[in-house]
Amino acid sequence: MHVTSASLVPYNTFGLNHTAEQLVELTTREQLQSLWQAYPQMPLLVGEGSNLLFTEAYAGLVLVNRLKGKQITETEDAWLVKVEGGENWHQLVCWCLEHGMPGLENLSLIPGTVGASPVQNIGAYGVELAQFCSQVESFDWQSGEYKTWSVAECDFGYRDSVFKHEARSHLIVSVTFCLPKAWQPVLGYGPLAELGEAATAAEIFERVCATRQAKLPDPAVLGNAGSFFKNPKVVTAQAEALKLAWPALPVFAAEPGLSKLAAGWLIEQADLKGVQVGGAGVHTQQALVLVNHGGATAADVLQLAALVRERVEQRFGVRLEPEVRMIGAAGETYLDEALACLN
Ligand code: EPU
Repeated sequence: MHVTSASLVPYNTFGLNHTAEQLVELTTREQLQSLWQAYPQMPLLVGEGSNLLFTEAYAGLVLVNRLKGKQITETEDAWLVKVEGGENWHQLVCWCLEHGMPGLENLSLIPGTVGASPVQNIGAYGVELAQFCSQVESFDWQSGEYKTWSVAECDFGYRDSVFKHEARSHLIVSVTFCLPKAWQPVLGYGPLAELGEAATAAEIFERVCATRQAKLPDPAVLGNAGSFFKNPKVVTAQAEALKLAWPALPVFAAEPGLSKLAAGWLIEQADLKGVQVGGAGVHTQQALVLVNHGGATAADVLQLAALVRERVEQRFGVRLEPEVRMIGAAGETYLDEALACLN
């Protein structure tokens, strides 16, 4: 097995220039077993690094999930598709549609791998992974055993799951999707509603791809990790007060007593679109995305994120929380901790 210090440039869509002490591309489960015996310390499992910000060099083992394979089981009502974690997400969406199994079309063009998709419960245009996920299979680095998680055990929330919390020692190796044969289009999001109730899955796919391409920068062209912040949830009374002061503010219903605000709108209205710190900038088409204009360092991105958070808080009294996962030398870190390390 080839274990070597490596550049992380190909493994983070922000395109930041850091290294990992050791890096292995994982292609078989046997390899996983022998690595587990050799490395007691928990490795960092990455897919395509499309939701990660490496804040410094990683002082450990990075495992790149390249496990491949798909298996379909058919029941009377649904197709169950078991997919290995290293498969590319968008290719899976295309493959399901080509094989006459619609359902995932609203999630087209989301960068990243299948294995990473449950961690933050990816979502877009009115659909979340949780709606189609039936099981997640993981390898627990603590016990060296595989575990199968039911959808209830995954504890999915808005960009959240058990894999960000109690189950951090679990590396996701496969995901099983349940695609009901009684397909229903999800057309609640503006540009999709225009398609009308008779819309086909292929039409939704096309429209989602066009919408994403118009707003969201392609990481192959302009480094980024998608939405940098979560859409903040505030108590409904605060949302109502903000709406009185700024009638154009987009407000969405959340859990009882809470409302979700559009972070991109708040950032734009705080005059931050296009603002740069070094090589990092607020995207001009979608203010929720921070981009690497070329040569950005982690310090540039972190300082820009801190500036965005501060200006939005000053103007609206709402504190944004990063959605991108930050990885420091020893593993997961957070914005304030990473900023403190810069000084
Ligand atoms: N808006 C602005 N200015 C901006 C950006 C947005 O005014 O610069 C307004 C829009 O006009 C709209 C509202 O804010 O009224 C929401 O914007 P949009 O529909 O673009 O979606 P979002 O809430 O900014 C979320 C997800 C995206 C997902 C889209 C579509 C999060 C953190 N982000 O973005 O997911 O593609 O909805 O469903 O929930 C990601 O997670 O990386 C991601 C890209």
